[in-house]
Parts: sequence; structure tokens; C-alpha cells
Amino acid sequence: MWRFSLQKRCFHCSLSAMKKLKGKTAAEQRWVLRQLKDPYVKASHALNFRCRSAFKLLQIDDKFRLLQPGSSVVDCGAAPGAWSQVAVQRVNSAGTDQDLPRGTVIGIDLLNIPPLDGAHFLSSHDVTDPATHAKLRELLPQGEAHIILSDMAPNASGFRDMDHERLITMCLSLIDLAEKILLPGGSLLCKYWDGVFSHQLQEKLSSVFSSVRTIKPQASRMDSAEKYFLARMYRKPFK
Ligand SMILES: C[S@@+](CC[C@H](N)C(=O)[O-])C[C@H]1O[C@@H](n2cnc3c(N)ncnc32)[C@H](O)[C@@H]1O
Repeated sequence: MWRFSLQKRCFHCSLSAMKKLKGKTAAEQRWVLRQLKDPYVKASHALNFRCRSAFKLLQIDDKFRLLQPGSSVVDCGAAPGAWSQVAVQRVNSAGTDQDLPRGTVIGIDLLNIPPLDGAHFLSSHDVTDPATHAKLRELLPQGEAHIILSDMAPNASGFRDMDHERLITMCLSLIDLAEKILLPGGSLLCKYWDGVFSHQLQEKLSSVFSSVRTIKPQASRMDSAEKYFLARMYRKPFK
């Protein structure tokens, strides 16, 4: 009996998978099949996260305890909003726990970010634009943040070296942002695609942060060049 129902369920699954694959290119089919098998995609649906990347931040934060209740967080490249969901929970910016201090979460993206209770979103904003930096200073409590998160990524061109270099340039712009908004002692977590310029980014970060480490959370796919730098103990340069 159970075997029959299992067979029926598998038949059902493969039928719905086949429907999802219909009319797709080979590359799109590979992506759909990978998504269907991915435990983090399933878990993100079950826990109402907007995408699987939530687990990367959860795993990093479980280990390094970056996000504390009451902290102010700027989430760069926030769409669709999964990292912001994690940040809202951990810094208590929706005021869910009345016994804990209430934090702040501001998300920025070139794309539209659907609203989220506890977060303020700057959709259609470029993180590298000084006008965005000025807006952040207006929105943050006392104009300052404890943590800058960046999961930003340019649209991949398919040319690995070029994509790597573009993302490194975007990450370097976060050092300018830090100078404007990051509190002394604050942290910066940024995604990069590993390559020849990673070392340059690490050196620049090390010149203004006391500790810089490389992280590859479990939820980051092994076959991806994606890694994160976690830079802590910001030393604000004197002007
Ligand atoms: C991998 S997604 C981020 C996913 C997000 N962390 C989440 O958990 O929902 C990368 C995002 O970076 C954004 N992005 C790329 N360049 C940007 C820029 N210059 N300013 C703001 N956002 C940017 C893209 O539009 C894209 O939505």
C-alpha cells in the first residue's frame, strides 16, 4: 500500500517537474532541476524566506554573532529581501520582542524590494551613488550603522574574470560607504567572487578593519566562486 502511494507521489513529482521543464532552454532546465533538489530552497519555502540566501546569513550570524538586538544594519543589494528578513528578526527591528532593544534595518537595491515589516527599503537606488549615501545618513539613527551587509552582485556576463573584477569594484565602493556611515568598531560583511583581485580587496579592508576573514558558509554552493569577507572592528580614518 505504502509502496503504491510512494510510487504515485513520485509519479506526481516527476509530472510537475516535467511541466516546470517544458519550453525551457537546456541551461534553464539545469537551473530548475538544481532548485528542485536543493534542500535550502525547500527550507526557505517552509520558513517563508524570500530566497535560499537567507541560510548563508543565518549560518554566518550563528557562528559570528554579528546581528544583535538594537543594532542598525544596512543591507546592500537587498532584493528580494531574504537577508533583510534575517536581519529584522535578529536586531528586533519590528519590535517583536518588547523586552529587547529595537534595531534598524535599511535595505538598498537597484531593483524593487517588496515591503517587509521592520525594514525600510530604498528600491531603485544604487549603493555606489553618493546620493544614496546621503539618504542613508538621513535615515539611520544618529546617521550611523553598526553593520554593513552586502550580498550585491552584478548581472553575470558569463565571463568569469570580468564578473569577478566588477564585483570587487562594487565591494571597494563599500569602503567609501563605511567611511560615511559605519560606527567605529562596526562590521562589514561582503560577498565577492574569488579571483585575482580578491587579495587587493582584502588588503584594503585590512587597512581600515582590525580583523578580516574569509568565509564560505555551508549554504553557499561548493561549485560557486562565491565567498564572503567578514571585516570587524572598524577603525574610522581621521580626516
Ligand atoms: C544575490 S542578490 C541579493 C539577494 C539578497 N541578499 C536576498 O537575500 O534577498 C544581488 C542583488 O544585488 C543588487 N545590486 C547589484 N548592483 C547593485 C548596486 N550597484 N546597487 C544596489 N543593488 C545592486 C542586484 O539588483 C540584486 O538584487
